Order: sequence, then C-alpha cells, then structure tokens
Amino acid sequence: MIQRPDHPPILETERLRLEPLADGDAALLFPLMADAEVMAYWDVPELDDPDLVADVVSGQVEAMAAGRAVYWAIRRLADGGFVGACDLSEIDRRQRRAEVGFMLGRDSWGRGYALEAMRAVAAYAAASGLRRLIARTHLGNRRSDSLLEKLGFGSEGLLRGHVLRAGERRDCQLFGLLL
Ligand SMILES: CC(C)(COP(=O)(O)OP(=O)(O)OC[C@H]1O[C@@H](n2cnc3c(N)ncnc32)[C@H](O)[C@@H]1OP(=O)(O)O)[C@@H](O)C(=O)NCCC(=O)NCCS
Repeated sequence: MIQRPDHPPILETERLRLEPLADGDAALLFPLMADAEVMAYWDVPELDDPDLVADVVSGQVEAMAAGRAVYWAIRRLADGGFVGACDLSEIDRRQRRAEVGFMLGRDSWGRGYALEAMRAVAAYAAASGLRRLIARTHLGNRRSDSLLEKLGFGSEGLLRGHVLRAGERRDCQLFGLLL
C-alpha cells in the first residue's frame, strides 16, 4: 500500500505553483464558483453565497487532513496570481486509484495552464504509488474532454443520467488513465 505523505506536496511547473488549498483560499475561489460559465458543467450550478464556497473549501481541507484527497490552489509563478484549483480526490490506497478534478478562472483558459498543472498532478500521483486515475465530465464539456485526452485519458463509457443538477438529470462521460 502506498504511503500517505505527512504534508500534501507543493508542486512546481514551468509557469505554475500548486499549493495545498487552505481555508483562506475560499475568497479566491468564490468568483470562479459564482461564474455560470465556469460552473456550466459542474454537478451543482453556480453559487452566489461566499459562505457556501467557504463550506466547500473547509470540507476539502478536512478531506485532505484525513488523507482522502489533495486539493491544490494554482498560482502563476511569475506574479503569484491565482489561476484556479485542481485535485486528486477519492484516493483509494488499497486499489491505488483516485479521481482528478480541475477548475480555472475564465481569464486563465486557453493558455495551457490546466494541462501543465494536471501533468504535474498525474506525475505526483504516479510517484506516490497510484496506478489508475479517473475523471468524469458532463456531456458537452469540450474543454475538459480535450484536456483529458491530451493527458492520455481514454473514454470508458457513458454514465446515463448520472447527475441530478437543479432538477435535471445529466449524462456524464467516464475517463480513465492507467499510470
Ligand atoms: C476544463 C478547463 C480547466 C480547461 O482549461 P483550458 O485552458 O481549456 O485547458 P488547457 O490547459 O488544456 O489549455 C488548452 C488551450 O490552451 C491553448 N494553449 C495556449 N498556450 C498553450 C500552451 N503553452 N500549452 C498548451 N496549450 C496552450 C491551447 O491551444 C488550447 O486552446 P483551445 O481550447 O482554444 O484549443 C477550463 O475550461 C475550466 O476551468 N472549465 C470549467 C470547470 C470545469 O468544467 N471543470 C471540469 C469538470 S470535469
């Protein structure tokens, strides 16, 4: 079974620094989670209450402390500007697998930042002993599908009506990557 690091790691790439998410990052995430376009393919619609985002982030910080997940805040190395967040969740050490997630602010799309960050996350996952990553996208989330394909994920099927979002059942696509 793989070891759990005492502290979730800081990862650095050519242009980015990924730091474990902290409660104080909720204020940075709020504008992203309040943006209907960023949240168009998320399991819940955009949130208009900063306290709800603070609750989400504190749940993530707790999951991280329990070793079930690692959530990172992504910042530009050059000026420290906040770009977004990404994660490994549902970490199953016995099965050596986890799920990936990512969300960038709209002004950071189209620059290859998500690809750069997620390459580092996948490399960290492999180095820490994980052997399989999965991801789930809502049907039509072209940018996410394209990112996952660039990372080497393959489509593993359709999850019909998998998500109930604001009264609407949505189909999802399952992606997988063996490390
Ligand atoms: C999914 C998401 C993170 C993808 O972001 P992204 O910026 O499109 O992804 P990438 O990092 O792969 O960047 C790809 C784009 O950057 C461009 N690019 C520019 N410079 C680049 C570089 N140095 N390297 C690679 N690509 C570069 C590519 O050409 C491509 O542009 P295109 O989409 O116009 O063809 C973003 O759309 C998002 O946050 N969406 C909302 C949240 C969401 O749905 N999350 C996923 C839920 S499953």
